[in-house]
Amino acid sequence: MNAAIQIHGVNHENTMSELAIQLTEVSLKYNDFTALDGVSFDVEAGQTLALLGHNGAGKSSLIKIILGLILPTRGSVNILGQNAQASQASNSVCLGYLPEDASFYDKLTGYEVLRYFAALKGVSQQRVVSLIEEFGLEYAQHRQLKTYSKGMKQRLGVAQAILSEPKVLLLDEPTVGLDPQASQFLYGKINQLKQAGCAVVISTHELSLAESHLDRALIMAKGKRLALGSCAELRSACTLKTSIDFSELSERVKSNAYLQKFYQDGLLQIAASQKSEMVQHLVTQCQVFDFEIKEPRLEDIYHDLMGQALRSSVEQS
Ligand SMILES: Nc1ncnc2c1ncn2[C@@H]1O[C@H](COP(=O)(O)OP(=O)(O)OP(=O)(O)O)[C@@H](O)[C@H]1O
Ligand SMILES: [Mg+2]
Repeated sequence: MNAAIQIHGVNHENTMSELAIQLTEVSLKYNDFTALDGVSFDVEAGQTLALLGHNGAGKSSLIKIILGLILPTRGSVNILGQNAQASQASNSVCLGYLPEDASFYDKLTGYEVLRYFAALKGVSQQRVVSLIEEFGLEYAQHRQLKTYSKGMKQRLGVAQAILSEPKVLLLDEPTVGLDPQASQFLYGKINQLKQAGCAVVISTHELSLAESHLDRALIMAKGKRLALGSCAELRSACTLKTSIDFSELSERVKSNAYLQKFYQDGLLQIAASQKSEMVQHLVTQCQVFDFEIKEPRLEDIYHDLMGQALRSSVEQS
């Protein structure tokens, strides 16, 4: 894959807001294999970043680097104002982590697992009790984990990650195995934590689920940053068209010289960046008020940007 697709728009790297996570030119090698190659991004307090990318793109490695579990070969990592390893040592209460393959000691009960982590993090028993209830595990709390289903273990893992109401929350594929209700509940919890100033990083392959909850997405490909931006910014960087559909196809639109060139297959097909200009034109010039705007979804944008990167790497080889 070639260099990152440039996203125009707000330069998040230079905002004055409080940065909870800041990675600069981070590279990682596992022996001779380059798993991460010069990745930079940051996450403000109270923001959610979704980490997207193909299997093996480097998402879990990035999360482990943020946590201070592995050291980058090159580059710097700053978490809550400290380098990642110092932060791991002194701020572990402020960090919440759900690994992608979370597993706990099978002979413990769900209640005992959460009590154990609560004791480590100085969290009250009352919080353990209420999280068990909120995550719908009350009925099974005194059963050993070996009797839990996959989704029940995942619910427990997520409850463990948010136990201490962390300032930085790292969730590696948290919705895998969760039923739709539990996934919605989890995103609701994440929103609460965000409002309290928590910075959240979620690695996920469930793009349609994540789309309405993320502030920005970082798309990784082969260890490199392919694109970074809000859904709107990523939409502007992709080649997919936004379409405007009319319930009653107005002759005024069809006969408008300016709009004609965008008219195709019964729709107006425009670039994402032309949306507000086009809406204004429809309303003020054509007096058309009844229309529906259909924008590419995150999943389509993802495939488009990956395809662009693949094509340009083939051209360069
Ligand atoms: N301990 C390790 N030793 C050697 N290579 C590793 C190790 N851990 C990961 N890798 C390699 O680093 C690359 C990135 O792995 P990583 O687990 O970060 O990917 P990922 O984006 O999380 O993928 P997935 O979507 O499958 O979870 C992969 O090619 C993987 O094989
Ligand atoms: Mg992974």
